[in-house]
Amino acid sequence: MLSYRHLFHAGNFADVFKHALLTRLLVALAHKDKPYFYLDTHAGIGRYDLTHAWAQKVREYENGIGRLWDRKDIPAALAPYLDAVKAENPDHKLRFYPGSPRIARGLMRPGDRMVLTELNKTDFADLCKWMGREQQTVIQLLDGYQALKAYLPPKERRGLVLIDSSFDRAKEFARIATALKEAHERWATGTYAIWYPLMAHGAMVGFARDVEKTGIRKILRLEFSIMPENSPVIPGCGMLVVNPPWQFKDEAQPLLDWLWRALSVDGAGGVKVDWLVRE
Ligand SMILES: C[S@@+](CC[C@H](N)C(=O)[O-])C[C@H]1O[C@@H](n2cnc3c(N)ncnc32)[C@H](O)[C@@H]1O
Repeated sequence: MLSYRHLFHAGNFADVFKHALLTRLLVALAHKDKPYFYLDTHAGIGRYDLTHAWAQKVREYENGIGRLWDRKDIPAALAPYLDAVKAENPDHKLRFYPGSPRIARGLMRPGDRMVLTELNKTDFADLCKWMGREQQTVIQLLDGYQALKAYLPPKERRGLVLIDSSFDRAKEFARIATALKEAHERWATGTYAIWYPLMAHGAMVGFARDVEKTGIRKILRLEFSIMPENSPVIPGCGMLVVNPPWQFKDEAQPLLDWLWRALSVDGAGGVKVDWLVRE
């Protein structure tokens, strides 16, 4: 049963964290002329109307993109991300928030290729609406974990896989570790970005151990929390990046430090960037 709807959370601090890092990964891929491949296994609907009743219920975006929208001192590394949000709102009022597919689309070059998979039928229909028909984009109603089998390795031999699960099933952490191992066996040189919520300490230690056990090397761990640990919503989130681009770690640390200062609630939480597994 797929009960998760991202519209309730669109534009919140976790989206800001994820999408800011996503833009840096895609910008790095565009440094070389050769085309790249992008697979978004859990694509969502592509574009979110923040005036919709679901987004208005808790207004999570206010403590995310809402806090950045009017800032005039955005660091250069965040510009591609903010530009993607601005592109959805040409009248300069924050109403629409782009999901990962539209953010990626905005950064892709004519020869690059994108596959988007989404398992919720209603969300899939919206995704098709917001992404339209385009030769370089394939959109499928498909389990994202099946997509890893179906589309890897890509013919381009360079690119990025975003695994952005809604974590609405038990054992999702273990499932992701297994999926990553299998995907990496198919395509060892690709970059993989895996978003996750920060949960109880035991769950996080177990996830790290499961990922270490895959034997995959070169895994950067980025964690970002802005709420007190006893908060009713998740206090923070993280991303594992397998095969990060050159200098990504040095670029991500100051970017996340800046975001933390902009978004932290009463100075809670913090930023951690370290190698879960080195080269
Ligand atoms: C966190 S949201 C995705 C947000 C999107 N990546 C973004 O950043 O804009 C997770 C999405 O995954 C979908 N989903 C859940 N399980 C899935 C699965 N096994 N395969 C593909 N999509 C799935 C949900 O319906 C939901 O739309």
